[in-house]
Amino acid sequence: MSRNTPPGGAVPEPPLWETLIQNAKDAEAEGERLQKVLARVGFGSRRICEDLIADRRVTVNGEIAVLGRRVDVSRDEVCVDGHPVGVVPGLVYYLMNKPEGVVTTSADTHGRPTVIEMVPEEPRVFSVGRLDIETTGLLILTNDGQLTQHLTHPSRGVEKEYIAEVECGPRGVSNGALRELREGVELEDGWTAPAQVGQPEVGVLRIVIHEGRNRQVRRMCEAVGYPVIRLARTRIGPLRDTRLAPGEWRELTLDEVRALSGAVEDIDMDTIES
Ligand code: URA
Repeated sequence: MSRNTPPGGAVPEPPLWETLIQNAKDAEAEGERLQKVLARVGFGSRRICEDLIADRRVTVNGEIAVLGRRVDVSRDEVCVDGHPVGVVPGLVYYLMNKPEGVVTTSADTHGRPTVIEMVPEEPRVFSVGRLDIETTGLLILTNDGQLTQHLTHPSRGVEKEYIAEVECGPRGVSNGALRELREGVELEDGWTAPAQVGQPEVGVLRIVIHEGRNRQVRRMCEAVGYPVIRLARTRIGPLRDTRLAPGEWRELTLDEVRALSGAVEDIDMDTIES
């Protein structure tokens, strides 16, 4: 019989305090060390990552992390310098130059080719927002639902830049129409937010919007009297790539994922979650 076993053989309950301490230790022992997670996603050696933590640049769920902190990457939000880091293993991010004639829905009832068929089957990804079947240009595909939700937030989505070739006379799009596009156009689903609009060449518009309504650019141009002939998306937030040929795709670099997360960081999370 051990020293602590009372006569009669019953094993005593540990005192409440010890139980609480042990529970806290068990909870902490779950998950991976923060510096290991940061090193894995490309912040440098573990030593460098320890320095990041010691310099108070890393937060976990909004609190400054201390050395030795463990995280559960499926649950905890880890940020470096305020930017969420893509720490969840298994998340993928592709950037595609969507060609014409391909739809961005996951499956098409009319049997048309989809962007999903152009990337690896596993892990399953979805397109972030939509591009019309005729529209070409940059499209993100990912299995990161949170980033998708942030990027497509209706009122505060990231900037998207389009180049639109429009039907017009030899004098191009009038200054009045450019002004209307910039200030907002009344569409059947309401006024559009102010946009940045320029005409780098006669009949070619460069339009930057942050909303993502269905066929928005086409409808805006049509509404001011200049129907779109061709439309391409040339930038999503901080992402550009003029080297991707139509139909090509590549994985985003870690820096690009971070830059994208940074571009949405100002979005009011309460608004998104409600
Ligand atoms: N606006 C459009 O009109 N079409 C697109 O595909 C994207 C934006």
